[in-house]
Amino acid sequence: MTALWSVVFVAAVAVLSKNYGIYSELFPAGASTEVATTADTGCDEYHGYQIEFLSSDPLMIRIPNFISPAESAFFTGILAQNFTYRLYVNEEDVKNEIAPRLAVLDQHDPYVTCILNRAQHFLGSMASPDFELLSVARYGVSHQVSLHTDASPEPLEDPKTKRQFNRRTSFFVYVHSSDDLEGGETYFPQIPPPSNVDLSTHPGIVAVNNASGQPGLAVKPVSRSAVFWLGMKPDGTVDRSTIHKGLPVTKGEKIGMNIWAKHYLD
Ligand SMILES: *[C@@H]1O[C@H](CO)[C@@H](O)[C@H](O)[C@H]1NC(C)=O
Ligand SMILES: *[C@@H]1O[C@H](CO)[C@@H](O)[C@H](O)[C@H]1NC(C)=O
Repeated sequence: MTALWSVVFVAAVAVLSKNYGIYSELFPAGASTEVATTADTGCDEYHGYQIEFLSSDPLMIRIPNFISPAESAFFTGILAQNFTYRLYVNEEDVKNEIAPRLAVLDQHDPYVTCILNRAQHFLGSMASPDFELLSVARYGVSHQVSLHTDASPEPLEDPKTKRQFNRRTSFFVYVHSSDDLEGGETYFPQIPPPSNVDLSTHPGIVAVNNASGQPGLAVKPVSRSAVFWLGMKPDGTVDRSTIHKGLPVTKGEKIGMNIWAKHYLD
């Protein structure tokens, strides 16, 4: 079980790196693209959000209102024009057509810069100011992402500088959820739900029993909120308790975005 899981994950990393390599050819430094003009976006990197602690070990924080309605609309619109790749952990999910579609964004876009600056302010000294390429994914009915950790058992390599890094921190942003959305929670089977909240009335989290019959934490895809976690232990190894999956969307549509700061290993 453990061995299989690791192999599967390495395959996914390879695929993501390849896609990102392709992407840097499509957007050579300094080139401008056809992305809608956002000179007057009003995207405010200091836009106010709330924070809500879910777990202290591993550190997990829910962030209601992480992005504004304008940002949500912008990223949802870009995706509609341009989702070219697939987001997945293993090839089976692609064959079975349950892998969500992915659009890599123009990294020079003011909205992208704005969101990454906001993430950087949140991270403070937890991570470097370099981020992996920002992308958005569209999850329609039956789309899901299999169990994985974002941090990789093997270091990742920056295609340009060859520096090694890993995903020490993760934000998953629920950019937009349709009004009729059902399913699509981000499920952490090894994280118990916080004991100090009333789950029956909480808008953003729910308990789902894991394979051992114990309650795990499922974060609901509330539009414009995000969930943040630390995926590596202080000794630099992957924190396996952060394994998670994107539960299947059973109705409607969810648009999601991963924000990964590069934690350099040199
Ligand atoms: C869509 O993606 C293509 C490459 O896949 C890129 O050339 C184009 O600029 C993108 N358009 C938008 C609106 O992001
Ligand atoms: C279920 O949750 C418990 C407690 O959080 C955890 O120790 C156990 O590893 C989990 N089991 C599975 C299969 O994820």
